Amino acid sequence: MDLANKYPSIWHLADRAKKRIPFFAWEYLDSGTGMERLVDRNRAALDAVHLTPRVLGGRFTPDLTTTLFGQEFSAPFGAAPVGMSGLMWPGAEKSLARMAAEKSIPYGLSMVANEDPETVAGIAPDQTWMQIYAPKEPEVLDDLIQRSKAAGVKTLIVTVDVPVGSRRERQLAAGLTVPPKMNAQTLWRVAVRPEWALATLAYGQPRFRTLERYFPQDQMREGAKLIGNIVDGRPDWAYFDRIRAAWDGNLILKGIMDPQDAKDAIAHGADAVWVSNHGGRQFDGSPAAIDALPAIADAVAGRVPVMFDSGIRGGLDILRALSLGADFCFLGRAFLYAIAALGDKGATHAYDILRGDLENNMVQIGAKSLADLRSPQA
Ligand SMILES: Cc1cc2nc3c(=O)[nH]c(=O)nc-3n(C[C@H](O)[C@H](O)[C@H](O)COP(=O)(O)O)c2cc1C
Repeated sequence: MDLANKYPSIWHLADRAKKRIPFFAWEYLDSGTGMERLVDRNRAALDAVHLTPRVLGGRFTPDLTTTLFGQEFSAPFGAAPVGMSGLMWPGAEKSLARMAAEKSIPYGLSMVANEDPETVAGIAPDQTWMQIYAPKEPEVLDDLIQRSKAAGVKTLIVTVDVPVGSRRERQLAAGLTVPPKMNAQTLWRVAVRPEWALATLAYGQPRFRTLERYFPQDQMREGAKLIGNIVDGRPDWAYFDRIRAAWDGNLILKGIMDPQDAKDAIAHGADAVWVSNHGGRQFDGSPAAIDALPAIADAVAGRVPVMFDSGIRGGLDILRALSLGADFCFLGRAFLYAIAALGDKGATHAYDILRGDLENNMVQIGAKSLADLRSPQA
């Protein structure tokens, strides 16, 4: 199939994904929270960032390579951690890991994904980053840190923008549960998505492979509910200090929207800050992440790298974020739309779309390198 012409953008892949996966999986992936104004605000604010083209720059191929924590990546973007990726397509985490290794970009494995760090870092030893929320039990935190180290992971992401689970009304209305409740509605929704149903049957139902060993054995069937028992959503700086003391690799704090929090993160030893409003899935009253970025980049003042996500759907959005002070961008839904649409080959196709769009738009504005982009263009 000629993917480049049939699905030339992330939007085309999202359209296809919606028709290929069950309603509850689509609602989980695509939704925001509340009235979903923040999803719209993230989009509108990115659209409002305009970059003025410079002309007569001659013939050039833009250089996209980016160095982060001493490692060279092929492009300034990576795949953000997405919980339960395997619900969108079985084996999604492995697809993402293979893509990350082949294309040389980072992939953040969520602690609530369906594969474990041992497997994923086995596929992409130099590209797998591990993302954790805050386990309540110190033994679970220590064990996750030990396992990540033992798996060879060098970069840990601590996500702090989920002080409590958000209500996510679309997910509630869609009746999403893990494992799925096998009632008539679920069966019907699965039956009308035969490709997904067969693939899931062959692979086995999504499991929480990283966390399930911490579940009480007699309650395994409770699935997602048990996650809430393991995760303490309200860590404080002392908790972060504890992680810093236990983790000697790169440590990133994800979910920063306030410049003072960014400064505090650096004071507490973070090696990078990650500006994000969780793709509009947590607090519907938040500013757009792209609007928060410049002040945070100013506060950080080049001391550590600034990562950015929330709303990126193409190369132009990446350019926008880099122009406003981000050093690196991440995409959550985009890669999963692609895998839901196309299965395993979706991940590399999404990379190709993003890379192609980034290069094309850099030529449009006359930016030969990412460094060019960061200097003011007036
Ligand atoms: C379905 C879904 C699940 C997510 N699960 C996690 C998670 O487990 N851990 C985490 O740090 N962020 C999680 N996120 C947030 C993403 O890492 C990222 O911040 C967000 O998707 C960026 O917005 P975008 O989807 O518009 O690119 C999730 C996002 C989605 C869409």
